[in-house]
Amino acid sequence: MFNLIIFGPPGAGKGTQSAMLLEKYELVHLSTGDVFRANIKGETELGVLAKSYIDKGELVPDEVTIAMVEDFLKNQEDANGFIFDGFPRTLSQGEALDNIIRSIDSQIDVVLALEVEEDELVKRLLERGKASGRADDQDEATIRNRFAEYNNKTEPLLGYYDQQGKLKRVAGMGQIEEIFDRLCKAVDAVR
Ligand code: C5P
Ligand code: MG
Repeated sequence: MFNLIIFGPPGAGKGTQSAMLLEKYELVHLSTGDVFRANIKGETELGVLAKSYIDKGELVPDEVTIAMVEDFLKNQEDANGFIFDGFPRTLSQGEALDNIIRSIDSQIDVVLALEVEEDELVKRLLERGKASGRADDQDEATIRNRFAEYNNKTEPLLGYYDQQGKLKRVAGMGQIEEIFDRLCKAVDAVR
């Protein structure tokens, strides 16, 4: 199995690049944001709970998100490996993921951290909000709150993975294709 984490602030291009990576490396995509949004659409209990956080740009509590990931992975026994997109977002989630992945005799192989300037992130999110209708991409105060959550709770994971020797920083500015090439080089170096 080959497992990678695509890491970065909101608007860094995690979803866009995941779609290309999963095809090239034949991996299963787990976007926790997408799973939450599907639950919101389906008006499930999880969806109602998640919406109350997502609409404010806050993180859903760890235990809820971790249980959801465990549930997803349980039904994926034939996978070659996974792309984790939007998870982990806290140190607790990172530690939980290590335990989960160890329990299936596997490991996180690489963490690809997309680096993008904040002005560019805001621009991309507002653009995406127009096209997708995502409420959390349309309101600048919510976007700012998501950055604050990222800086306070998610960014510490960079040190966590750096210490494990798994962190690769990748420039996330420029054309989608050239960013993809940089990511592939980083993957191929460890694969
Ligand atoms: O990953 P994505 O940007 O799609 O996530 C959208 C929202 O979903 C986040 O702003 C957050 O409210 C919620 N989320 C979360 N915990 C995660 C992933 C997403 O709370 N691990
Ligand atoms: Mg995304």
